[in-house]
Amino acid sequence: MRHILLIGADGQLGNEIMQQTPALPNFNFTTTTIDTLDITNQKAISDLVDSKKFEYIINCAAYTAVDKAESDKDLAYEVNANALNHIGEIARLKGIKVIHVSTDYVFDGKSYVPYTEDMPTKPTSVYGQTKREGEIALLNKNPQSIILRTSWLYSSYGANFVKTMIKLGTEREQLGVIFDQIGTPTYAADLAGAIIHMIKTDIDNTIPFAPGIYHYSNEGVASWYDFTLAIHKIAGITCNVNPIETKDYPTPAPRPLYSLLNKSKIKKNYKIQIPHWLTSLEKCIHILK
Ligand SMILES: NC(=O)c1ccc[n+]([C@@H]2O[C@H](COP(=O)([O-])OP(=O)(O)OC[C@H]3O[C@@H](n4cnc5c(N)ncnc54)[C@H](OP(=O)(O)O)[C@@H]3O)[C@@H](O)[C@H]2O)c1
Repeated sequence: MRHILLIGADGQLGNEIMQQTPALPNFNFTTTTIDTLDITNQKAISDLVDSKKFEYIINCAAYTAVDKAESDKDLAYEVNANALNHIGEIARLKGIKVIHVSTDYVFDGKSYVPYTEDMPTKPTSVYGQTKREGEIALLNKNPQSIILRTSWLYSSYGANFVKTMIKLGTEREQLGVIFDQIGTPTYAADLAGAIIHMIKTDIDNTIPFAPGIYHYSNEGVASWYDFTLAIHKIAGITCNVNPIETKDYPTPAPRPLYSLLNKSKIKKNYKIQIPHWLTSLEKCIHILK
């Protein structure tokens, strides 16, 4: 049996990957959560990686509390940046390929064209900064790494914007949602499928592992306001949703106003088709129902 280590298996993306492991029948997945592997514990990572001959590490663990990170910088840095130093180092020593996930928050959101992988990063939040440092650390330590930057992730697992809007929409008659931040929602099941595809095509040698940074979100464009209207329509919720400006909803961490990701690289290199965000949202809400 061949081995893959899936770190952060109980998060949104980790859970979605777990659903798709049958697509890699020759692989045994060793899965960890923060309780079984805290990635800030370097010895624990080394011990686990030493225990089997892993060919791939998929890291879905991250400090994802964007606002909390502003006042919890040290821990956010340890999880999102420093841990990647160690994962990268040990992976390189053992010849393990790493697939890691990053964020649109590495950009400042001042672009007016979709961000390509080589556009300059300029995070404006602690979360974005620590995720960018994690990207650099991993690629420096283990060049055999793929980093997938994604945006506005949701799933039927875990807490996320879709579930929050369903809850608020059923509890309230009125809701104000930001309309001047533009991005693309990403169904974590689709991103999980892309990750599985990258491994599958590497093992069957149709598309050899091509390290580097890739952008992945669903297709299309939305504001949080548009996203909310679609969530409510699909879920059959009647709630009066009003568009509001970012300045009227202050948060500790600033968000990029524009975070569209250009996905040409992954579509071309990995020959994948990406669903439109509305199609995937319907699938997710159908599962939630
Ligand atoms: N969510 C988004 O909108 C979004 C957008 C762009 C990019 N991303 C990136 O996509 C990836 C997956 O995100 P997600 O939404 O699936 O995240 P998630 O649901 O928050 O899952 C992250 C997991 O990491 C775990 N974790 C936190 N600290 C850890 C530690 N020290 N050691 C081990 N595990 C730890 C968390 O455990 P606890 O829950 O117990 O803390 C959680 O299970 C992340 O890299 C994230 O930065 C997310």
